[in-house]
Amino acid sequence: MNPSSSNHTFIKACLRQATDYTPVWLMRQAGRYLPEYCATRAKAGSFMGLATNVDYATEVTLQPLDRYALDAAILFSDILTVPDAMGLGLSFAQGEGPKFAKSVRNEADVASLAVPDMNKLRYVFDAVSSIRKALQERVPLIGFSGSPWTLACYMVEGAGSDDYRHVKTLMYSRPDLMHRILEINADAVAQYLNAQIEAGAQAVMIFDSWGGVLADGAFQTFSLAYTARVLAQVKKEHDGVRIPSIVFTKGGGLWLPEMADLSCDVLGVDWTVNLGKARQQVGGQVGGPGKALQGNLDPNVLFSPPDHIAREVRSVLDSFGKPHANTRTSGPTHIFNLGHGISQYTPPEHVHALVETVHQHSRGLRN
Ligand code: CP3
Repeated sequence: MNPSSSNHTFIKACLRQATDYTPVWLMRQAGRYLPEYCATRAKAGSFMGLATNVDYATEVTLQPLDRYALDAAILFSDILTVPDAMGLGLSFAQGEGPKFAKSVRNEADVASLAVPDMNKLRYVFDAVSSIRKALQERVPLIGFSGSPWTLACYMVEGAGSDDYRHVKTLMYSRPDLMHRILEINADAVAQYLNAQIEAGAQAVMIFDSWGGVLADGAFQTFSLAYTARVLAQVKKEHDGVRIPSIVFTKGGGLWLPEMADLSCDVLGVDWTVNLGKARQQVGGQVGGPGKALQGNLDPNVLFSPPDHIAREVRSVLDSFGKPHANTRTSGPTHIFNLGHGISQYTPPEHVHALVETVHQHSRGLRN
């Protein structure tokens, strides 16, 4: 039996099916630029207090949907929950980035690393079920994880980094240890995404936020191969319904032709990529195989006045061009997003201009 797919515009676009307009959602759409998010976070006391409380996580996931006509919800959580469950001790100090109590730097650290018991992440799967219920099919829910490489960056550095010195030192001097970390991460991420799908996630996204810091050659060996290892294990359908998968490598534009071989449905791209060229490279033809594309407005555009935002949004839509319109077969499609997460300094009212322009202009493009 062929898996069915839903009628949601976002899911259809992920599966390269024709839609009446281009769907839009924003990376980090639930976050500090929204005063209501800051209020809930203050009640929760800390970021992890927010993410581990099912009611709070549900509340903040829905906040951006109540303000804007977004076409998808994304689970409120963080990519670093997985290394936290491995026992590394995650914390977020106010105004600072993430930090781990323990880092993974040597043979002994790697030897004690293992795929965590998924019960330690039960709070995430409970949040997925709760959000699905609260959404009442308004829009689909995206689950997510970090890529094995991006998680390894945080695990080895022990925090965010500007130069990736420790993780690259390990990669170049002890590639055997690096491969072992990446194998464990890949299997952990696959189990984590499958548990999110079983709890109700309708699409999944892999954030390879730091793939783009790798040299050509190292990217293929240490990032892409392990993203492929995750995808080989992730469920493609659940309860007879197709579950699309999205891979986003920030700074990965030059590797799109190689990423086209990944067993995923959508490739996310940042603002350095021309969507028309990306469409030629990986978007495929009507009736043929290919990847849907997601992206790629520079988040800093949202600091400009609303009429400038509208102009930049139209230019992103126009660079992709007219999405295919054949309802009997698949073809090139676009999901509008930013090229990276929305900044905490974004004026919330500016996001209206983005969402409204995407919907309006993309309907016009199809006529
Ligand atoms: O998109 C959403 O609305 C869903 C929630 C989400 C968060 N983090 C919440 C969050 C998602 C999808 C993420 C992914 C994530 N987390 C990534 C991949 C995407 C990307 O941005 O490249 C990465 C690298 C992380 C790691 C992480 N978490 C960092 C570097 C930080 C601090 C950065 C900052 O903006 O301060 C976080 C914390 C975090 N995760 C916040 C939010 C809303 C802000 C923390 C707070 O409220 O105190």
